[in-house]
Amino acid sequence: MDSKQFDVIVLGAGAAGLHCAATAARRGKRVLVLDHAKQAGKKILISGGGRCNFTNMFTSPENFISANPHFCKSALSRYTQWDFIAQVERHGIAYHEKTLGQLFCDDSAKDIVRMLLQECSDAGARVQLRTEIASVTVNDAKQYRVATNQGDYLADALVVATGGLSMPKLGATPFGFKLAEQFGHRVLPVRAGLVPFTLHDADKAQFEPLAGTACDVVAGNHLTSFKEAMLFTHRGLSGPSILQISSYWQPGEPVWLNLLPEIDALEALKQVKQQQPKSGLKAWLSSQLPKRLVSMLLQREQWPLKNMADYSHQELSDIAERLHAWPVKPNGTEGYRTAEVTLGGVDTNQVSSKTMQSNIQPGLYFIGEVLDVTGWLGGYNFQWAWSSAHVCGESV
Ligand code: FDA
Repeated sequence: MDSKQFDVIVLGAGAAGLHCAATAARRGKRVLVLDHAKQAGKKILISGGGRCNFTNMFTSPENFISANPHFCKSALSRYTQWDFIAQVERHGIAYHEKTLGQLFCDDSAKDIVRMLLQECSDAGARVQLRTEIASVTVNDAKQYRVATNQGDYLADALVVATGGLSMPKLGATPFGFKLAEQFGHRVLPVRAGLVPFTLHDADKAQFEPLAGTACDVVAGNHLTSFKEAMLFTHRGLSGPSILQISSYWQPGEPVWLNLLPEIDALEALKQVKQQQPKSGLKAWLSSQLPKRLVSMLLQREQWPLKNMADYSHQELSDIAERLHAWPVKPNGTEGYRTAEVTLGGVDTNQVSSKTMQSNIQPGLYFIGEVLDVTGWLGGYNFQWAWSSAHVCGESV
């Protein structure tokens, strides 16, 4: 065999690229994976705090954001979370559920990268790192020619698995989007997702003393809401509930925080008024929320401070309403520097949901995050990488 001639070239040795390469090679395809990085699966290695939240037991199409919400259904149903879990178990990797169906390695994310590379090598797929891709063209024989600093490679099929723009320091580039456009594909506007919010100066000054404070909230907007932890940071707001709602947020919009998601604040306040009429609002708030948050709220909201008995029903109702829907207007997000994902990307309307093949350029495939399919926080983005990679690897 010509060492430069392959059936399939996969661009990107990340989650989707490696899984696709192994799947295609198991079918007897000659597969080459090219990546400019020194190490395969860099994002996997740092994901989930080094333990990789590799899937979610409750994965369903509702956990994904896309201009075409139906697109992800076929791949997710043909290669499910249980299929990936079975592979993890075959490799003897110990894992556990942390919360909300999120599965993490007991030991290290390295186990997942090792497994993917083992699958590639067992199936005979070649993974070549430190390879800069200069150009991709199609020759007269309708083969893809990938020109690189290591030489030129030819293949009948080309799989684009170069991911999104988040965390450029880990090797993220717009390569996949540019290649898609080169072949006439529409790329929907991209923006950072699963990302902390930054604040306007006045809010920042007021929130700063709370850095490090966490509480359970429901963070929501006109589209959806998430009940998870929120964290005040030196730069703004973070924590799972904030990262989740950031993917549904547009600049200029407010976000509402239900600071007391577990109780009916008005009922509770009425009860305190009746049972402890001489107590104060601050004492009750402090029994429900972190003290530093209470101090900030009292200062910011300018609620009158008096005995509970002296609050009118309207006053209590206003306070309760505010506690259940506390508005915050982010200044922006921390952007791709800290974002976990990229929203938008290659328009799925020009890609087959069954095979991930381009509908306009035969032999060209897109998988993983480069596509306009973005999962929630909690293992969904890796599941999309595995599912889209599998159906592509089965058909390429
Ligand atoms: P991925 O980014 O994994 O791979 C793309 C590959 O293409 C990289 O190896 C890159 O080097 C290569 N490449 C890019 N441009 C290139 C070029 N021009 N030439 C050659 N190669 C190029 N998800 C989840 O489900 N659970 C989790 O726990 C986490 N945690 C997490 C933490 C952090 C900090 C981040 C940034 C992200 C996550 N994610 C996550 C998201 C998850 O990592 C992401 O969705 C998948 O890695 C996407 O897989 P892909 O294979 O599509 O891209």
